[in-house]
Parts: sequence; structure tokens; C-alpha cells
Amino acid sequence: MIRLAPSILSADFARLGEEVRAIENAGADLVHFDVMDNHYVPNLTIGPLVCEAIRPHVQIPIDVHLMVEPVDALIPLFAQAGANLISFHPEASRHVDRTLQLIRDHGCKAGLALNPATPLEWLDHVIDRLDLVLLMSVNPGFGGQAFIPSTLPKLQAVRTRIDAHMAAGGQPIWLEVDGGVKLNNIAQIVAAGADTLVAGSAVFGAPDPDGGYREVMQQLRT
Ligand code: DX5
Ligand code: ZN
Repeated sequence: MIRLAPSILSADFARLGEEVRAIENAGADLVHFDVMDNHYVPNLTIGPLVCEAIRPHVQIPIDVHLMVEPVDALIPLFAQAGANLISFHPEASRHVDRTLQLIRDHGCKAGLALNPATPLEWLDHVIDRLDLVLLMSVNPGFGGQAFIPSTLPKLQAVRTRIDAHMAAGGQPIWLEVDGGVKLNNIAQIVAAGADTLVAGSAVFGAPDPDGGYREVMQQLRT
């Protein structure tokens, strides 16, 4: 089963409650929540207060993607604000293993987010502590960018690592792809091994997010 995580980065921020309810009603599996700090990435978005504000509007898990540096101080705040999964970029944390543990200590699932040029070696010594790998298929910072093709072989390589880990008795790890996921590349992305897809502009760029979601889901089923 493929999970879909619409990114509210492309939603109407003046109507976030309605927007997340619409995607939940349409069947979304997660709400992808992009946090940018104008330091780790050249853009500024939303924080724990907004996470807390949308929390009562949906039952589905909130998938927080931290594009911030430093990372650790925000983890308790997002956990208290109702986040269920928290991913961060390893270059932005001085002690990656500690940050992963901190996320789990706060009752959330922990993910590492890897930029297009970030090597997979970051996974080597922490794979036992991961609940998800968030593979970036654009450079982080903006919605609506084009999918970077070198993500596909990289995605296959992560799939191989995760499968080997699970075959050896390791915990399940989700493989989420983020950036430029569109109707015309979903089939390739899924074939390369993704099980969770983030889609911002493909869902919220549609005239109504419901319709955008249904279009993406229909594409997944074909
Ligand atoms: C980019 C964000 C993405 C973004 C994806 O830095 O992490 O989650 O919202 O948007 P689309 O699907 O429009 O590329
Ligand atoms: Zn994201």
C-alpha cells in the first residue's frame, strides 16, 4: 500500500483547518508539515503553534519535516503540538543519533531527511533508530520545483538497504519521497521503491485539494 502525504506548504494558509479536513476526507494518510527557518533553507514557514492549531481538525498523523538548524530545541515543542512523525536533515544536527533518540523519547516516529546531494552513508550507523527515510527529490526550501531525476537510482539504493535491514529482522522503515511528485512521475517513483509520497502542488495546486488528492490517488491505482 502506498501512503500519500499532501504537503500543506501549497495550501491556503488562511484556511488551513478546512484544507487539512478536505485532504483527510479525501483519504490522505498523513499531513506533511514543512518547517523552514530562513537559515537551513532560504524560506520561512510555520512552526509548532500552527501544528497545534491544525491538530484538532484531523485524526491522521502529522508528518513534520524540519528544515531547520539547529534541530533539538524544536522537538519537544512539536511533540507537544501533536506531531506524530518528525524528520530532520542530518547536516543540521550536531549529534544525529542523539536527535533521533530525542524524537523517539518524545513519543514520535523519527526520520532522517536526505537532500539530493546527501550521501546514503548517513544511514549507516543509525538505521536501527529510524522509522522513516525522507528522500528529497528537490533541494529543500520551496514547493513547486521539478523532480531531480538522479533521485530514482538513489531511491532504489535506499530501498535495497531498507529491505536488507528488514530481512535481517530489523524494524520497518518507511521510504518517503518529497519534491516534484506529479501525476506523470508517480509510477516511476513507486516502481523505484517509495512507499510514501509527499505531494504539495499536485494536490493543493488543483482547484480544490479534494480533487487534487483524488487525481493523484487515481494515478496511483493505474
Ligand atoms: C520542499 C518541501 C516539500 C514541498 C513539496 O522543501 O519539503 O514538502 O512542499 O512540494 P511539491 O510537491 O510542490 O514539490
Ligand atoms: Zn517536505
